[in-house]
Amino acid sequence: MKNQAIIITGATSGMGKAIATLLAQKGARLLLNGRDEHKGKDLVGELKKWSDVVFIAGDVSKPETNEQLVRETITHFGKITGAITNAGSLGLGSVTNMALADWHYTLNTNLNSFFYLTKYAIPHIKNEKGFIVANASIAAFKSFPNHAAYCASKAALVSLVKQMAVDYGPDIRINAICPGPVNTPLIWDSAKAFPNPDAAVSDAAKATLLKRLGEPEDIANLVEFLISEKASWITGTAITIDGGIMASR
Ligand SMILES: NC(=O)c1ccc[n+]([C@@H]2O[C@H](COP(=O)([O-])OP(=O)(O)OC[C@H]3O[C@@H](n4cnc5c(N)ncnc54)[C@H](OP(=O)(O)O)[C@@H]3O)[C@@H](O)[C@H]2O)c1
Repeated sequence: MKNQAIIITGATSGMGKAIATLLAQKGARLLLNGRDEHKGKDLVGELKKWSDVVFIAGDVSKPETNEQLVRETITHFGKITGAITNAGSLGLGSVTNMALADWHYTLNTNLNSFFYLTKYAIPHIKNEKGFIVANASIAAFKSFPNHAAYCASKAALVSLVKQMAVDYGPDIRINAICPGPVNTPLIWDSAKAFPNPDAAVSDAAKATLLKRLGEPEDIANLVEFLISEKASWITGTAITIDGGIMASR
């Protein structure tokens, strides 16, 4: 892990923070991103005892932010061995009650940001025979009420991951992870789309075969495996990590 120089978007909270923490503990050099500068500063303060960590504040829905993340990674670390695109936005609403701006922002954050970041980062990652991991969701496969933009963006993200694994193999391994309900701030926002938000979260936990929500650390453990040599024959796939919720549908 010590030879790694990895970009992680959406690192200020939830799964992104857990992934950044685990990889920093293992010695990976990290270029972290989120929109919240204060949270980013605190995160660097927490992680710098383990590794060389840089935070760049910015909105990944904009192409120029992604270009900057790539540029700064090269400036700080001289190379990019991988990217973990984790930033995500809900954009709640059905098609008829959603503002156009919310539709575009959600698609830009969840899908187009992946295109932007990888477009700029791939030439560098290719040099290192590296990896890309996209945080999608079981929403790529399962529909949730009032999550029109979210479900569409995550399904398209999985499709793009698989397509790009074709174009960039064997040099780069490209995979998606598809978490089920995970205990982060986002799941509580997502629950607002249901008639009874508290019940929606506890029902989601009960609907898993393992009878609990996922924790951000569960997802970090999968990402650590997926970027390691142990996963060297895994590419072009979408790995569900959901406590078994999709198996029992
Ligand atoms: N929680 C779940 O049940 C669940 C299930 C399946 C998939 N997911 C996916 O997992 C990923 C991480 O979500 P989470 O559950 O860990 O939620 P979270 O705790 O709310 O974290 C979301 C992260 O994304 C960042 N972010 C959001 N929009 C951004 C933007 N436009 N530009 C840059 N950063 C942005 C946030 O940082 P700032 O606020 O600092 O910008 C934050 O660090 C998302 O892609 C989400 O769709 C979540």
